[in-house]
Amino acid sequence: MSAEIRICTEEDTKALVETIRKSFQDIVERFGLTQENAPRHPANCTMDWIRNDMECGVTYFAIEDKNCIVGCVALEQANSDVCYLERLAVLPGCRRRGFGKALVDHVLSEAKHLGVNCVSIGIIAEHTELKDWYKRLGFVEGESKEFPDLPFGVTVMSYDTKKSCRQCAQPDAVEHVSDRCRSESRGRREGKRV
Ligand SMILES: CC(C)(COP(=O)(O)OP(=O)(O)OC[C@H]1O[C@@H](n2cnc3c(N)ncnc32)[C@H](O)[C@@H]1OP(=O)(O)O)[C@@H](O)C(=O)NCCC(=O)NCCS
Repeated sequence: MSAEIRICTEEDTKALVETIRKSFQDIVERFGLTQENAPRHPANCTMDWIRNDMECGVTYFAIEDKNCIVGCVALEQANSDVCYLERLAVLPGCRRRGFGKALVDHVLSEAKHLGVNCVSIGIIAEHTELKDWYKRLGFVEGESKEFPDLPFGVTVMSYDTKKSCRQCAQPDAVEHVSDRCRSESRGRREGKRV
């Protein structure tokens, strides 16, 4: 794989939105997601979401192949202990070439530099291939929860950056992830973002 990963700026906002929306289309179809039942799902991503994320300190990375963005991921530091990996997306025509793994590895390495103990991600609980993939990348399956206002269950997976062979303590992770898929007004934390 000869692709390069770079940090994104506001100039990348449009390309990031296109990449995220296109990449999550298969998830939309498979799990019956709509603007109504999962308004904050990445498939409905807008330029405002990305700008807002960046203003709030979320770092976006893009992976480029032949100078074109083929995938992206976001890293949010929740506190001194935990980072969230979010918006991981690789364009359908560019999958199974290692871009997804490269993005995850990059974010894990960034998180280690930040000194956090844990990188956490929330996935659709029924998405078994994805769950298995994260396990192969070193993530451990954590809590799963159903939410009455979401059309899917959420499973939290965590990566222990210090490899202390324990599951990371992250009591609010599943709520954080489910909030990301709810309405803007309900999900926005501290009046800023979800
Ligand atoms: C998950 C995703 C980023 C992986 O990207 P990628 O570039 O294909 O990843 P890699 O090439 O590093 O790894 C490919 C592996 O992904 C696994 N995989 C993950 N999700 C999968 C899915 N829905 N269907 C099939 N395989 C999947 C496969 O096991 C595959 O391994 P294999 O080729 O040995 O069978 C990409 O499938 C994607 O963008 N999916 C839609 C958005 C999404 O679900 N994002 C994650 C949100 S938490």
